[in-house]
Amino acid sequence: MTEPSYQAAEVPKDIWQAALKLREALDLHNYRYYVLDDPLVSDAEYDRHYRALVDLETRYPQLIIPDSPTQRVGGQPASGFQQLTHAIPMLSLDNVFNADELHDFGRKINERLGDNWHESFTAEPKLDGLAINLRYVQGSLVQAATRGDGRTGEDVTANVRTIKSVPLRLLGDYPEVLEARGEIFMPRDGFAALNAKALTAGGKTFANPRNAAAGSLRQLDPKITATRPLAFYAYGFGEVSANLPATQFDVMQWFKTLGLPISPELQLVQGIAGCLAYYFDLEKKRDSLNYAIDGVVYKVNSVRDQQELGFVSRAPRWAVAHKFIAQEEMTIIKAIDFQVGRTGAVTPVARLAPVAVGGVIVGNATLHNMDEIERKDVRVGDTVMIRRAGDVIPEIVSVVLDKRPVGTLPVRMPHACPVCGSEVERLTSEAVARCSGGLYCSAQRKEGLRHFASRLAMDIEGLGDKLIEQLVDAGLVNNAADLYRLEAETVAELERMGEKSATNLIAAIARSKKTTLARFLYALGIREVGEVTAQNLADWCAGDLERVRQADQDALQEIDDVGPIVAEHIVRFFAQEHNQEIIEQLLALGLHWPQEAAVRPQSGPLVGKQFVLTGTLSEPRDTIKQRLLALGAKVTGSVSSKTDYVVAGDEAGSKLAKAEALKVQILDEQQLNELIQHATQ
Ligand code: IVH
Repeated sequence: MTEPSYQAAEVPKDIWQAALKLREALDLHNYRYYVLDDPLVSDAEYDRHYRALVDLETRYPQLIIPDSPTQRVGGQPASGFQQLTHAIPMLSLDNVFNADELHDFGRKINERLGDNWHESFTAEPKLDGLAINLRYVQGSLVQAATRGDGRTGEDVTANVRTIKSVPLRLLGDYPEVLEARGEIFMPRDGFAALNAKALTAGGKTFANPRNAAAGSLRQLDPKITATRPLAFYAYGFGEVSANLPATQFDVMQWFKTLGLPISPELQLVQGIAGCLAYYFDLEKKRDSLNYAIDGVVYKVNSVRDQQELGFVSRAPRWAVAHKFIAQEEMTIIKAIDFQVGRTGAVTPVARLAPVAVGGVIVGNATLHNMDEIERKDVRVGDTVMIRRAGDVIPEIVSVVLDKRPVGTLPVRMPHACPVCGSEVERLTSEAVARCSGGLYCSAQRKEGLRHFASRLAMDIEGLGDKLIEQLVDAGLVNNAADLYRLEAETVAELERMGEKSATNLIAAIARSKKTTLARFLYALGIREVGEVTAQNLADWCAGDLERVRQADQDALQEIDDVGPIVAEHIVRFFAQEHNQEIIEQLLALGLHWPQEAAVRPQSGPLVGKQFVLTGTLSEPRDTIKQRLLALGAKVTGSVSSKTDYVVAGDEAGSKLAKAEALKVQILDEQQLNELIQHATQ
């Protein structure tokens, strides 16, 4: 970098040399940090250099040049943004949404380029931010412009200068004029922190990182932009007054040497098959990236081929965006209903204008509880962002406040249960409100029966939601014991039931009488007692229900997974008269299970060993569990230092990670089977 000579005249030589050195060092550190992602020095060291330069520049203001690293923020707030005409129009991209459309894209290129084209593409993430054109003249950033309509954009230079990954000066051997094009975006961690800060300050939050990036870049005061965690990756070029490298990939590598950051995910791929392989790889990685992406962009690698292909209207023929299936969509809340669960919990549910998210049509979204409604300030009539990740229940991410119609009101929890009219109570210690109707409330009864009949409980085949609804509404079943008093003739008269299905149902109910204590305890629906706790209870009393019924809270807390709260729920459950009555009736109607003590071995290599099963296994977990229990092992739900083995199937997640962290022995299914075989011999 050459220094203007007048400065040399006014500032002692050693001082301007020191300033030059500091600037070069800071530029280099920026490059190592933002472009190579391989910093040479600690943040503290960088700050020391930075302060030393500020120091010199304060003492000798003549040293200050516009592209000094200290000059990122400056000037007064603007009154608006100037319109600029791009030297070369900024193009947009066509989208494809599936492999067929991508093959069409490839075929059209083949047709135009003929035989001697090598089908080499670059593949990179489609960043969810805003396109920008950075114009460097003699290595200095002189202008940054948004895409606008492609022909003219807005001058946002002052704001873009505040983005640390945008170099103010290029490094190395730069041409006279170079326009780098790329995306300004907000990394996810920065986005989360910005929204968290806005929330505590009572300010407005952004719906997604893209909106946050756009809002931050369009600030009239660059000092505000400077506080926003924006970043930049280059992915293309505009005007360049030099011969370009022959390929898109090499242009990007060249950009890197000039100090322009590019996506670390940029790759060369071969043919449409290579594009697709990259797409599926990146989709898998998507959630672990620290920035939002909405697809992949493929570009013909040869720059000459790009020129030959040209563009139609606003999009190049040589590039395309392959979109991921959207996992977030906007829709409108038509209504908010309240559902009553098995334990009386009254949960708000949003009824949505149906919308496709993550490949399925979504019509409902859970709102969890009133705290969440208040936190997000969700109202009927609101436009909201819906997210569906994997198989989880769709949820409302945020409200688009700009689109709120006038006259909306905050949502209130009803005072009376929408099903039975009983009072709705909310304990100060709990987030959920509950219908106080108990078994008087038909919603609670139905949910209770649904749970009782479910697969891991009494496993009554054919007793589904619709049938339970009918049985309760017709007054034929009020509680679990009533199920065992049903007769085929009565059931056959219900809508959509015939003689055969009625007999089948009665037979299935009868079959469920032979069960295990663990299943029975789970089926009772005691609060906080899941299948694992139920199994632990059954193990503890060796099949003797009386012991559980008589146990006090202290005794129960000896059991794995049972803390004071669970113990209290258990004691309270068995203390209630109608629960005692139903249990007596069920036993009298013939429910039974083996006393497990007899079948449990007292010695053997697996006696007392604790197992946790996680991930997708080739056999039902319950089958594996029963096999382990029969060998005297214990199966628990969570990994702790007491765990002896974690059996991990496909896609095992946090439990596997915890096991690794605690250095618990991890087995795959085959190793488990060997262990079992060994223990059986
Ligand atoms: S290339 C001539 N590459 O997507 C090609 N665009 O839908 C012009 N975008 O306006 C764009 N990531 O804002 C390209 N890796 C990437 C991109 C990308 C995001 C944005 C860009 C563009 C829009 C078109």
